[in-house]
Amino acid sequence: MTDSDVLLEVRNLKKHFPIRKGVLKKVVAHVKAVDGVSFSVRKGETLGLVGESGCGKTTVGRMIMGAYRPTEGSIWFSPPNGKPPLDLASIDPGDMRELRPHIQMIFQDPFASLNPRMTIREIIGEPLIVNKVARGEELDRRVHELVEMVGLQPQHMSRYPHAFSGGQRQRISIARAMSLYPALVVADEPTSALDVSVQAQIVNLALDIQDKLGLAYLFISHDLGLIRHFSNKIVVMYVGRVMEYAPAQNIFERPRHPYTEALMSNVPTTRPELIGRRIVLRGETADPINPPPGCPFHPRCLYAEEVCANVVPPLAELSPEHQAACHFSRELNLTGCDALGCAV
Ligand SMILES: Nc1ncnc2c1ncn2[C@@H]1O[C@H](COP(=O)(O)OP(=O)(O)OP(=O)(O)O)[C@@H](O)[C@H]1O
Ligand SMILES: [Mg+2]
Repeated sequence: MTDSDVLLEVRNLKKHFPIRKGVLKKVVAHVKAVDGVSFSVRKGETLGLVGESGCGKTTVGRMIMGAYRPTEGSIWFSPPNGKPPLDLASIDPGDMRELRPHIQMIFQDPFASLNPRMTIREIIGEPLIVNKVARGEELDRRVHELVEMVGLQPQHMSRYPHAFSGGQRQRISIARAMSLYPALVVADEPTSALDVSVQAQIVNLALDIQDKLGLAYLFISHDLGLIRHFSNKIVVMYVGRVMEYAPAQNIFERPRHPYTEALMSNVPTTRPELIGRRIVLRGETADPINPPPGCPFHPRCLYAEEVCANVVPPLAELSPEHQAACHFSRELNLTGCDALGCAV
């Protein structure tokens, strides 16, 4: 990978939310929502961020969007104009305003994210007006083009969001997010509020647009099937940390972390006789306020040994581009989703 291909480089990113108690609002503990996450996204590719509820996926996305200041770490973003990368973790508001058009977001709930008092034309056109990109006839032309790109009827542009179905509303959100031709779109569970039948249409639309505009996605989901369909590379997170990071194909064919294996064994299978091989995870997901010592996954891991309770396994490079944070990654022969006939 040459440096010029890298769009986003996240290094040792942390977000610890303080928990305050009492009248003096004294800080009594911290939620380690994100606790040392590193990955990179190349121009035009999709990085999938997967893990159980509460593992810190949204918090990573919000730090990249500038909604949260990281507690520690850096977020290097290379602007498309060829200027040197800027660290979004320490950027000043003026520079962030300049970068804002290049980084956009698609949310989970397309209804909550659309202003009910604005027409579709206004919703999609607003970023173009605010950023002084287009007005008058040019604005109309651009909005028309975006509406068509997301498969909506141009004659419906004067309608309000409530007149549309969930899937159509997500199309409107996508048109708005794409209006400034961003280089990076953070999509946080963009289809999980939609009917299953509509989910595939929205995913395919997002992929078509990626082809057309060459943008990169940070795709956040707990659905491994969608992640696989969408992603070039995958980051598997558990209580704020990266357990495994590799190209999608490697992850599905040959996971190297027991947590990934367990997640995969629960994907629907086309071979019912293999259902008995599902790994039922013991216990609850770890508490990010007080994560277990050593490997945070060790209390639930089928393969844990004494060292796992005492020593934090580093994220080790097992082959080019394949990293896993497990003391036994090299010895274990874990089963991928494909061997279980997974239906994704
Ligand atoms: N503003 C906040 N203040 C305190 N704790 C927070 C805050 N936002 C998130 N958290 C906590 O940080 C952890 C990570 O939350 P986050 O929303 O990033 O997880 P997630 O992986 O997106 O989960 P989900 O799949 O349910 O969306 C959780 O324990 C959550 O309760
Ligand atoms: Mg979330």
